[in-house]
Amino acid sequence: MPFSSDKLYHHGGNLRELADKNNIRRQSIIDFSASINPLGPIPELNAILDNSIPEIMHYPDYGYKELRSAISRFGGWDQSMIVPGNGASELIYASPYIHEFKRALIAVPSYNDYTEAARRAGIPVEYYYCDESNNFQIDIRAFSSMIRPHDLIIIGRPNNPTCTVLTTGEIESLCIAHKESYFVIDESFIEFTSHESIAGKLPDNVLMIRSMTKFYAIPGLRLGYAVGAPHHMCELKKRCIPWGINCIAAKTGIASLENSGYQSHSREAIQRLLFNFFTKLNEFPELRIYPTNSNFFLVKLQPPLTGELIHRRLICKGIAIRQCTNFIGLDDSYIRIAVRTEPENAAFTSALDDILKDYGT
Ligand SMILES: Cc1ncc(COP(=O)(O)O)c(C=O)c1O
Repeated sequence: MPFSSDKLYHHGGNLRELADKNNIRRQSIIDFSASINPLGPIPELNAILDNSIPEIMHYPDYGYKELRSAISRFGGWDQSMIVPGNGASELIYASPYIHEFKRALIAVPSYNDYTEAARRAGIPVEYYYCDESNNFQIDIRAFSSMIRPHDLIIIGRPNNPTCTVLTTGEIESLCIAHKESYFVIDESFIEFTSHESIAGKLPDNVLMIRSMTKFYAIPGLRLGYAVGAPHHMCELKKRCIPWGINCIAAKTGIASLENSGYQSHSREAIQRLLFNFFTKLNEFPELRIYPTNSNFFLVKLQPPLTGELIHRRLICKGIAIRQCTNFIGLDDSYIRIAVRTEPENAAFTSALDDILKDYGT
């Protein structure tokens, strides 16, 4: 079935629309539809907000020197390899302009904006469909055999919504085997995992993109960055808008990257929350929970349950989930659920229990 751009462009976390449609208060919704660190932003954020007020009257530093220097210290990359962006989104949408690509090849199901970014740049898109029976893991040999010179390949690592992760070795072997193709590796969720980043040994034909909105819980502030070979970064920068990052986001980014205590605490707490939530969800025979490498679960519902039904019943109880019908390669038998705090996860399982009892499954 063809997907219209509008349908593709639907995301999780759209609380205003959900609240208006269902006649509920936006503030009363527990949001399991966007996969954001449930611990919230760094504690220094309030002080940053207060101290930034005088700076609002000035333009941010055009070159974002301090922010790039903080990213450089955080990851050990040279500053010439770093381009910050207004969320990972700005960089994903800029990446198809780095070269003249003949085609974009995208493994699906995956984040729909990869397709949208290629389409907006006028690049034809083709898909590699991951096999459900293999938990949606990419079969690296089959995928590799589809790649042609001058392809743009975009891979989520971990991948949204399937939570799969290609190893750094697999990515490296793809990059070496296809030197005339270019690989965008979206590591927006990597900090939730214990997986090694591809950024430790970036081949020349790779652009690594990170979101800071998820792990550092600032989707409303917007921040991300890309790392790659300096000559590619010059091309990328040309496609980013001037002053795309506001001074508050830049300062919050620096403080977030420097707060290693917050980072390790978040990782430990989220691993615990994930384990407990997974154990509870797994008790429902009506659900198949796919293995996760991130802070969210892809779930398959047994008939007669559908994503639409679960969504309609949960939203009445003030709970938002991500329906998966607009992910290419998925349908209404799938939903995506983020992990949240212990009481919120308990509210979710209790609400789901009530719904499933009603359906006598
Ligand atoms: C896999 C993936 N990459 C990138 C983004 C965009 O992130 P940002 O908020 O930094 O623009 C999202 C948002 O949901 C995502 O799921």
